[in-house]
Amino acid sequence: MKLLVLNGPNLNLLGSREPDVYGLQSIAELEESCRQSASECGVEVDFRQTNSETELVEWLQEAFTNKLHVVLNPAAFTHYSYALRDACAAVTSSGLKLIEVHISNPHARESFRQNSVISAVATGVIAGFGFSSYHLAIRQLAGR
Ligand code: DQA
Repeated sequence: MKLLVLNGPNLNLLGSREPDVYGLQSIAELEESCRQSASECGVEVDFRQTNSETELVEWLQEAFTNKLHVVLNPAAFTHYSYALRDACAAVTSSGLKLIEVHISNPHARESFRQNSVISAVATGVIAGFGFSSYHLAIRQLAGR
């Protein structure tokens, strides 16, 4: 089984951007740790990051068309992108699973981060566990 692990804007700066919030490890290290988790669970991951809302929508449509479960960190799009929400709803309403993940706990931060337009159409949400948020999501989707 293959899972898509999709990352939104500014996550390419992991390790240097607000390290007190997001830690010191890079996106390459996040990718490597996701590959490790996936291989422990006997699944494959296709790991991607983009700063573009259009590209994220297209990747979610790809998940819908190719019937792939998704781990999604929508980053700031979490809080306002109805286009992303509609693309997520297409995925989950087709019976595929989509887990919204966050490195930090947005509920413990600024008030604008306390609303997610994605959560209501996600299968589930895992937030606040650093990179482990992704690993927990991968395990869940792999059925482990
Ligand atoms: C984030 C939380 C978002 O509020 C923020 O815009 C991000 C990262 C997280 O992983 O904690 O870019 O999704």
